[in-house]
Amino acid sequence: MPKRRFVCQECGYQSPKWLGRCPACGSWDTLQEEVESPRRVSTVPARVCPITEVTFSENIRLSTGLTELDQVLGGGIVPGSLVLIGGDPGIGKSTLLLQVLKNLSALGHRALYLSGEESLQQIKLRAQRLGAEDPRLLVLSETNLEAALGALAETNPAVAVVDSIQTIFWPALSSAPGSVAQVRECTAKLLQVAKEKDIALFLVGHVTKEGLIAGPRVLEHLVDTVLYFEGEKGASFRILRAVKNRFGSTNEIGVFEMSAQGLLPVENPSALFLSQSTTGEPGSVVLATLEGTRPLLVEVQALVARTSLAVPRRTSVGFDPQRLAMLAAILEKRLGFSFYDQDIYLNVVGGLKLTEPGADLAVAMVLASSRLEKPLPRRMFLFGEVGLTGEVRPVAQAPLRLKEGARLGFESVCLPEANLLSLEEKPLALIGVSHLQEAFEVLFR
Ligand code: TYD
Ligand code: MG
Repeated sequence: MPKRRFVCQECGYQSPKWLGRCPACGSWDTLQEEVESPRRVSTVPARVCPITEVTFSENIRLSTGLTELDQVLGGGIVPGSLVLIGGDPGIGKSTLLLQVLKNLSALGHRALYLSGEESLQQIKLRAQRLGAEDPRLLVLSETNLEAALGALAETNPAVAVVDSIQTIFWPALSSAPGSVAQVRECTAKLLQVAKEKDIALFLVGHVTKEGLIAGPRVLEHLVDTVLYFEGEKGASFRILRAVKNRFGSTNEIGVFEMSAQGLLPVENPSALFLSQSTTGEPGSVVLATLEGTRPLLVEVQALVARTSLAVPRRTSVGFDPQRLAMLAAILEKRLGFSFYDQDIYLNVVGGLKLTEPGADLAVAMVLASSRLEKPLPRRMFLFGEVGLTGEVRPVAQAPLRLKEGARLGFESVCLPEANLLSLEEKPLALIGVSHLQEAFEVLFR
């Protein structure tokens, strides 16, 4: 008698009986009945060996031919690794991976592209567009996992792509493709083959409306690396971000631009986020932030305008709204601004999401700039964290940020006093501040 259970389709929580609300993740009506597949017990004896006898060489990584992707992966593809790529539909996941396979097959590696979403003709059309026509690039349109595993075993590629994990199903399971049980089972089976045969495997995962990879917690444990592809619908550039990486840093990002010939690595991303035309106007500022080990200069715009509503609007794109509210409150309390009858809009140009506290000083100053209708000095950028008493606190990696600013032709920078004191090189004019009041006086003098 197979065991029955109810599994939350959002987070993978299991319960012996049906529940209206998942106790683990709190989502409603997500528990579905699933039949457990019987597990076979392995009889293979385990091989134990002293750690000193384990050999490993660093130069086994394969380059994808796309510098930005190599960087996000931590220096290239590790053979036998399992990489999950998530992102909204149409963001360019299939395009990116077909390009990777194109580059690898051109270098003489065997590559397999397995699509459960598109027919062979559709794949061919895309491949023509990308110039990916190489006899070493093998394609398969299939949704049955058994057939997919058979193809993997038979062709034994160096790199394979499964696009997407939600369309593949294991016929022995009664659940629908894309359900947590199917996704988990298929991933586990693919993982086994990949590790056995040393195939580097890329899995494409779709994002649910909540912005999570379906069955996220289940999958994230299984795979070695999780990459997220993000970008604004209208904009042509895309950011690839490592969320988990067993073979590299998780903070790395890669920047790409979608062109008629597929995705192109962007080597100078700061230029994308700076809209030269508006700096020097009230409500515009340039700040230096850090994405992983990479410094980025980004323009942030604010609009503070008299409200017609009883409760004024606070809208923020690309910056944490809570933090925006906090900075507005600090400006009110410490510098005597009043925002109670003002709407506040904040926008990070280019669609980047700022997650690092080093953006505080610039955001506070751009709010002040828009409220007073006074521009900030031209050719200047800012960085620094702001505390509740209005103190400006030091941030990590100040020299990297300065270098990037100098490289892009900025002439001066307003930064935390504490960072200024610890600097050895001074590539541009530096203005150290230790309090928001001080920054305000210097910048709007
Ligand atoms: P796609 O890779 O199909 O997205 P995903 O697999 O994440 O759903 O990307 C499709 C989009 O990219 C589509 O809007 C067309 C566009 N595109 C280009 O602009 N240039 C190209 O060379 C290709 C192949 C696609
Ligand atoms: Mg696709």
